This record gives sequence, structure tokens and C-alpha cells, in this order.
Amino acid sequence: MSRAPTGIHTIIAIERGSAKPLYRQLYEGYREAIIDRRLRAGQKLPSTRSLANELRISRIPVLNAFEQLLAEGYLESRVGAGTFVASSLPGEAPARERRTPASSTLAQPGRRVVSRRAAEPVQAEVEPWLEGWGAFRVSQPAVERFPIQVWARLVSRHCRRSPRSLLNYGDPMGYKPFRETLASYLRTVRGLRCEAEQIMVVSGSQQALELSARVLLDPGSPVWVEDPGYAGARQLLAQAGARLVPVPVDDEGLEVATGMARSPKARAVYVTPSHQYPLGVTMSASRRLQLLEWAQRSGAWIIEDDYDSEFRYESLPVPALQGLDRDARVIYIGSFSKVLFPALRVGYLVIPADLVPRFARARDAMDLFPPTLYPPVLADFIGEGHFARHLRRMRALYRERRSALVEALGKEFGPALRVIGAQAGMHLVATLPPGMGDRQLSVRAAQERLWVMPLSSCYLGEASRQGLVLGFGGTSASDMPDAVRRLRTVLGPMKRQG
Ligand SMILES: Cc1ncc(COP(=O)(O)O)c(C=O)c1O
Repeated sequence: MSRAPTGIHTIIAIERGSAKPLYRQLYEGYREAIIDRRLRAGQKLPSTRSLANELRISRIPVLNAFEQLLAEGYLESRVGAGTFVASSLPGEAPARERRTPASSTLAQPGRRVVSRRAAEPVQAEVEPWLEGWGAFRVSQPAVERFPIQVWARLVSRHCRRSPRSLLNYGDPMGYKPFRETLASYLRTVRGLRCEAEQIMVVSGSQQALELSARVLLDPGSPVWVEDPGYAGARQLLAQAGARLVPVPVDDEGLEVATGMARSPKARAVYVTPSHQYPLGVTMSASRRLQLLEWAQRSGAWIIEDDYDSEFRYESLPVPALQGLDRDARVIYIGSFSKVLFPALRVGYLVIPADLVPRFARARDAMDLFPPTLYPPVLADFIGEGHFARHLRRMRALYRERRSALVEALGKEFGPALRVIGAQAGMHLVATLPPGMGDRQLSVRAAQERLWVMPLSSCYLGEASRQGLVLGFGGTSASDMPDAVRRLRTVLGPMKRQG
């Protein structure tokens, strides 16, 4: 149940010169607020004394109004505790009423015009495989292993010692010492060519993408997107008015030649070269160079989403595409959602130097600047070695969880499922034999609280493959065999794949 804020009260407006007596105005105002459910059952009212003070009137009309409301059953008083909205009243407005504003505020219901981007049909229900958290859910890190005690100590240190400047308005780019720590990390670990001045702290990849769209795209701008690809990015780009051009992905990553054939003058491309989402391929060196060359020649921007490349199990992490860029064409997006935890909502953009003022202006217009507490906490978390330790532990943990999943899939399904993209990240794909529809299987699995995403949902157009995207970050190695056994029961008999 939600809690009403303590010490903050709904105040009823009164009109001093009105012919209507003050007690009547108060009585009607509170009654209406209760009927409209602006005041809910059980909610506390201010004391008559403080209300009279607040409204700068005598206490008598307040007492009279409350007495009337008590008598009619809208309010109840509890000895020693105060006056409350009667707990016997229904708590929430009926669904139909909740959706429409109170009739008194909308005299003449007119046309309800919204922007074209908001007017797109809204899917009423969440896809079944996204309804819960647990076995196989993609994008679920091992949050139970996050060193919360260390984190709590650092947060508390910064709350206690924060200079006043951290409580005030800040820099649209974010806290500079954190950006310096990040720049050094990205140069060393991800092979980026960057300075702190190019880094902007954002609330995750999604905001990074929204800012990139605002700065780089116009309505109708063609943008290549990987097919299959990340629905979160696709949705955002489509809402920004981009014309999405699906470009297939093969064993070497994005098929650049197909992109050039389909839309040679695209304004931008959104790619996940380190670990293609969802297929898990790493973009080959020749494709990277081909993409950079095309972008330079045609003047296109490359938006590189490097969301989970810290986790690679069979080789060293592959350096980012941005590090190969000699023409400042790449906008690099990183996030702490996978390496730490998604609720942190901290990510970053590495922006070509000449575009920094434009991004800063867009940021200023959007939400001014990022929250100031977590960046210094993160700077210490990284600077004091906690980040490196956590990464080492998580790499070992995910390797173990991944092996448990691959082994259990082999045992339960044999050659009926083919595993691809298991060499990095926190998910893999199990392709299905021809003729099997992944959507129905995912719906059935969700009924058993097994959250497998159908591969076909990642395609923009018709899916050329059917499969299941299986997250392993949030399931322990010891729970994996049982989860896969349950999946086997749900999926039923399957043909082997040739
Ligand atoms: C491809 C991809 N990019 C980015 C993200 C992370 O997004 P955010 O940083 O907004 O949490 C995810 C998370 O699922 C993802 O799958």
C-alpha cells in the first residue's frame, strides 16, 4: 500500500470575500477532495489549529467544517492521534474514473491531440516473458552478489561529507573527477580514445540514446538498426521519428554491405559490435573497418552501444569500435546497469569533441544535469579497487552460470537446440528446429514462471530464425539444472536439428 507523505496536507482553497461562509467552503472543499479520491481512506488531516494558521483564519470555521464532515461520516477522529479520512470509504477511484480527469476540471471534453510520437498505438499488456524476474530473464544481473555493505559505506561517507556544491545545481556533463576516472578506465580497459571533457554522465544507455537522437537525427532520418536487435533502442529511435532500416546480422556482425545497398545515405547506425544483442556475435575487424569507412565517406554517425562487454569468457575483452575511429564519427554509450546493477541508473556517453557543446545544450534542455550523489560514490568505488574486484568475481560467477546452462541444455535437449552467442555477456540464444514457433513456447514458459524471450521478438521485420534468448545472470549454477528441466517439460518433444 502506498503511504501518504507525512506532514504534507491537501489544503483547500478558500475565498475570503465570497458570500459563501468560510466553514461551508471548507466543508465542500474537503468533501469534494474525498469524493474525487484526492484524499484517500485513512489519510491524516492537519490539526484544526495548524489548518487555521495556514489559511490565516480563525479556528471556528475549521472546527465547524470538520464537525459536519465527522457527522456525515467522511472523517473519523482517533483519540490522541488526530482526524482522518474515514477508513470505511473506498480507497481508490474505480478504474474508469481514474483514467479521466475530474469532471469539474474538464468542462467540455474536446479533442485530445497528442504528438505523433505519442499517438502510436500503445500495447496494453507487457509481453508475458517480461512480466517477472527469475530463471532465464535477460538483463538480470546477480544483484544478490553486489557488495552492498561497501556501497552503503561509500554512500554514507559522501552524504556526510559532501560539499555544499553537491547539493546544488551541477554541470550538464556530470561530476568531473568521476569523468576523469571513467576516461582512464575506458582508455585502459576498452581501448577508447577519449578525454574526460568528452564524457557525459547520463541515467543509463536509454538516456544516452535519447540525447543522441535529439542531437543527430531529424524526423524521417534513416537509421540502420541491427536485425535482430535491441527493442529498447529501436523503440526509442522510432519514437524520435527516425526511419528504421533493418540490416541483417551474420557471423561477423552487422552486414555493412546490405546496409549500404538498402540505405547508403543513412544518417546514423545503431550497433552493438562487442557483443551483438541478442545473437552474441562479435563484429569482425573487417566489418568494423568497412563500417567506419562507409560512415566517413557518407557522413553518417555510428552509435556504439557497449552494454556488457566486460564479461567475456573465452578471450580478452574486444576493444571498442570507438578506438578505431579516426574521423570522430562514433558516439559511444556505456552503462553500469549490467556490471553493477540496473537500478543505479548511471551510464555515460563518449562524445566526439566537436559535438560536446551540442550534447551539453540538449542535456541542459532535457534535465539540466545528472544527480550528484552517485558519481563521487562510483569514483571511489572504482578508485579504491572495489569495482575491479567485483568485476573479477562476477566474471567467474557468470562463467560458472553459463557453463551450468550450456551443460543442462545439452543434457535435456541434445541436438534439438543449438546454442549460439555464449562466449560473452549474460545471455545466450538457443535456436529451435525448423517449424517451431518461439512465441508460443515463450508464452507457455512464462505461465511456469520461466522468462525466456522469443528471438523473433527481436526482429523488426519477419524473423528469419526462431529461438529462445536465455539469460543466465540471475540464476545460480545449482538452480540451473532444475530450471532447464522445467523448461524441457514446458517445451515438450522436439525434433533434432541437422
Ligand atoms: C543492448 C542493451 N543496451 C543497453 C542496455 C542497458 O540499458 P540501461 O543502461 O538504460 O539500463 C541493455 C539492457 O538490457 C541492453 O540489452
